[in-house]
Amino acid sequence: MSRIFITGSTDGLGLAAARTLLRQGHDVVLHARSRERAAAISDTSAAALGLVIGDLASAAETRSIAEQVNAIGRMDAVIHNAGIYLERSRGETPEGHAKTLAVNLLAPYLLTAWITRPDRLIYLTSGMHRSGASSLDDIDWKRRPWNASQAYSESKLHIATLAAALARHWPDVLSNSVDPGWVPTKMGGAGAPDDLEMGHLTQTWLATSDDGAARVSGGYWYHRQQRAAAAEVGDVGFQDALVEKLAELIGVRLFAERP
Ligand SMILES: NC(=O)c1ccc[n+]([C@@H]2O[C@H](COP(=O)([O-])OP(=O)(O)OC[C@H]3O[C@@H](n4cnc5c(N)ncnc54)[C@H](OP(=O)(O)O)[C@@H]3O)[C@@H](O)[C@H]2O)c1
Repeated sequence: MSRIFITGSTDGLGLAAARTLLRQGHDVVLHARSRERAAAISDTSAAALGLVIGDLASAAETRSIAEQVNAIGRMDAVIHNAGIYLERSRGETPEGHAKTLAVNLLAPYLLTAWITRPDRLIYLTSGMHRSGASSLDDIDWKRRPWNASQAYSESKLHIATLAAALARHWPDVLSNSVDPGWVPTKMGGAGAPDDLEMGHLTQTWLATSDDGAARVSGGYWYHRQQRAAAAEVGDVGFQDALVEKLAELIGVRLFAERP
């Protein structure tokens, strides 16, 4: 049995993944943004190994989340699931970053740096990552007029790229990204056409299965099948430029060596 931490497990795909893993007998550590949101999943958390609390829009709270996870012990796998979609404005996090960037990219980057390294890392991306190509000059949306859909697409291109960079830099870890499909959650909306079941079973499988097909690294997955991601994801130059940009932006370096 494995020990798995899932960010954003109060709702949607994260909660579905947590419940499936608990049913399978795994040890699951849940995550909620606040005590109020934690209270909403008290039935699930009663069966879990632990529950950590913190808002991923804040780097300080993200640090606390990592510390709470590390205090529970080393995870076998981490599913970086939490995300936000179409924000009305750039917003401003306590550290001054665009909220979409902070929650969808900076928080998983920081948690990856701060949580004791697990055996497997899974990052939730989206088919919309294909519309995310643009210069890395203004990833924090300080100069460009706000475009919510573009910001989301970029964050999902960048998180898939980060997953691929990790697979290359950390050969002892299995690092993959997953497009869950357009599924009916709070984010996807009631009319979403894809299957919620298939939308979360790729991440639970990648996190725990001993099946050789699941023990790969650097993949981009949809419904337990590897797909070709946008060209940037596998572009080593783009991977290293992104990782360097994030290290400069938030002052935390993920890889000891500079590209
Ligand atoms: N649904 C889709 O069609 C779809 C398609 C492609 C990709 N995805 C990706 O799949 C992942 C899960 O999406 P979903 O559909 O399950 O979304 P969801 O139903 O909106 O759930 C998102 C989860 O993330 C948490 N979260 C959001 N912002 C947070 C913050 N600042 N701090 C802490 N927790 C936060 C939410 O907490 P609260 O419950 O407190 O809000 C919730 O638990 C996301 O990364 C998303 O981009 C989804």
